[in-house]
Amino acid sequence: MQAISYEELQRVVATRDLGLRINLRKVLERTTTHQELVSVLVRYGGWNQCFKGATAGLVAQLHRSQNVFGYFGAQEAACGVYEAITDEFRDRHDSLLWAFLKGVSDFFFFSHEPAAILMRHPSVLAAQQEIWKGYGEICYDDLPKLVAAAGFHAGSEFMAAFHEFPQLDEFFTQCRPKTKEYLERKYVQIGRRNYSCYGWVKDHAEEIEQRHFSASLDVFTAIMHVGAETKQYFLDGFLRFLEIQEELMDVLSLPIPLPPLEAV
Ligand SMILES: [Fe+2]
Ligand SMILES: [Fe+2]
Repeated sequence: MQAISYEELQRVVATRDLGLRINLRKVLERTTTHQELVSVLVRYGGWNQCFKGATAGLVAQLHRSQNVFGYFGAQEAACGVYEAITDEFRDRHDSLLWAFLKGVSDFFFFSHEPAAILMRHPSVLAAQQEIWKGYGEICYDDLPKLVAAAGFHAGSEFMAAFHEFPQLDEFFTQCRPKTKEYLERKYVQIGRRNYSCYGWVKDHAEEIEQRHFSASLDVFTAIMHVGAETKQYFLDGFLRFLEIQEELMDVLSLPIPLPPLEAV
């Protein structure tokens, strides 16, 4: 069996015509008020927030599954996913996201407390549930679930690297250059560190997501020897992520306003 390449996944996306319907930039462009724009950004950020823990969970499940993948297969697969969480935990991506949302709220004169509440809107939590499920939750030694979870992870890195974050950055660069300039200049202190308010978008849109994506393909290479059906499980998981993201874009398109400050 052959390893999976970026081109092969691109073809899968093109055949299913899913990628074209998933476009964060379009969702952002369709907003008509600042309130709506902030609401989309906050909910998108809230959804993103669960990946760190879900990815860490998959590392543990893969590493524990030596019965299925063998000693080195389990190690290599776990390492390929671990690559993504090194950045998440070392660079405090939750704080970077918080700085971004705080900066956006400040720019448009919204208080960030309602934004923090909206991050945990029931629709965001429901979308997060699908991510936890896709990452396999508890699935050690369960071959189909583990491989699908690895494919799901590859889908998340693929979309982050080639769609979501480039689209987010493009949106600010082309449609909101003043907001971008403000966010780039502004830093906020969280704990003992200072964070750039544009760092969350910039870092993800540059090279880290491409590196994560390429490491997620190494995961497949590490586990493809275990059976002929492995590739299909992996592709099923990959496509499941795209479907979930399509659903998310529909949810984000719903005009859910920021809650009033009195609700804080
Ligand atoms: Fe991140
Ligand atoms: Fe990533």
